[in-house]
Amino acid sequence: MRFIQVGVGGFGQRWVSCLKESRDAQVVAMVDVNEKSLEAARESAGYDKSVCFKSLKDALKAVKADAVVCVTPPKHHRKVVVAAMKAGMDVISEKPMAASFIDCKAMLRAAEQTGRSYVVSQNYRYQPETWTMADLVRRGTIGEIGQVNVDFIMGVDFGGGFRHAMEYPLLVDMSIHHFDLIRFITGLDAVSVTGVAWNPPWSNYKGKCSSSIVFEMNNGAHVVYTASWCAKGQFTNWNGDWHVEGSKGTLVYRNNVITHYDVPEVYKVKKTREVKMKSPGKMSQEFVLNDFVKSVKAGKRPRTDVYDNVRSIGMVFAAVQAVKTGKRVRVLDAETERMIRNK
Ligand SMILES: NC(=O)c1ccc[n+]([C@@H]2O[C@H](COP(=O)([O-])OP(=O)(O)OC[C@H]3O[C@@H](n4cnc5c(N)ncnc54)[C@H](O)[C@@H]3O)[C@@H](O)[C@H]2O)c1
Repeated sequence: MRFIQVGVGGFGQRWVSCLKESRDAQVVAMVDVNEKSLEAARESAGYDKSVCFKSLKDALKAVKADAVVCVTPPKHHRKVVVAAMKAGMDVISEKPMAASFIDCKAMLRAAEQTGRSYVVSQNYRYQPETWTMADLVRRGTIGEIGQVNVDFIMGVDFGGGFRHAMEYPLLVDMSIHHFDLIRFITGLDAVSVTGVAWNPPWSNYKGKCSSSIVFEMNNGAHVVYTASWCAKGQFTNWNGDWHVEGSKGTLVYRNNVITHYDVPEVYKVKKTREVKMKSPGKMSQEFVLNDFVKSVKAGKRPRTDVYDNVRSIGMVFAAVQAVKTGKRVRVLDAETERMIRNK
């Protein structure tokens, strides 16, 4: 499959090597508004100078491609993704789908109108820890999910860039991973959300970078999510710490270990064991790319395509609305529900 990569600086480098290493992908163009990033990426991959373009429009005039990978900052995703689909290409973009829910809905509409596949890369699903937890829940190991706690505690300085200027950098650029994992691991969808967000005095983010969010899920379970990107120590890893409780027991994920508490009767722990991790096969971006190529070729819906991912990004923008207004907010509006109903 012939690919154009748009945005090759920063995390774009991860996709440069993923596409370069893949036997299914041939990169026919690289696009970036920053000439230095473009040249560095081209050189690292060992491509000819003729693959470099300053805009997707210029690239499309010069080359024929089947797909686009978009790794620009979130506020540019809509323009790139919609233009690519309208030009007849299938698309992978980095998370989050976009920087506003208005943009997400426009991307959903464009996918529907063009009939193209649009996948949002949710790479956190494709690692042994999260894959294993989702598998255990799916197989009924802990019964029906009733309550979940997720704590993500980190202090991360990006030294400037788009995150330090965003209104809600943690919720929009980071929590999308955790909110998507909540759906993936529990197999449930979020219905409504309440929460608060704040910025501690020492934070070097302009927007609010800590939050405490509560989701109500579609089986009545509640998920409590507490997170900070400007924490002062005792950090979790990037997945966060998880406590997933069901009618038959609990899964605890902490320090890269999953522990299963078997609790068949009310609160009496019968057995505790460390769970052996399962591998998803390919990991991370490599999994996303492989699934995308295989599904598009087979005419099937890839995982985490726009119709699925709108339920995860919907959690993000509903949470933003909840912390802004102090009110309980429905995750998806009626129009979006209608658009994805039969998918
Ligand atoms: N999945 C993950 O684990 C993960 C990790 C980091 C970043 N990301 C995501 O990747 C995306 C990019 O983040 P980043 O950290 O690489 O940002 P960045 O700012 O470091 O790099 C973005 C690149 O895009 C280029 N760019 C900006 N506007 C453009 C446009 N209109 N057309 C072409 N190129 C343009 C910039 O020049 C830069 O080279 C974001 O959506 C981010 O959330 C995902």
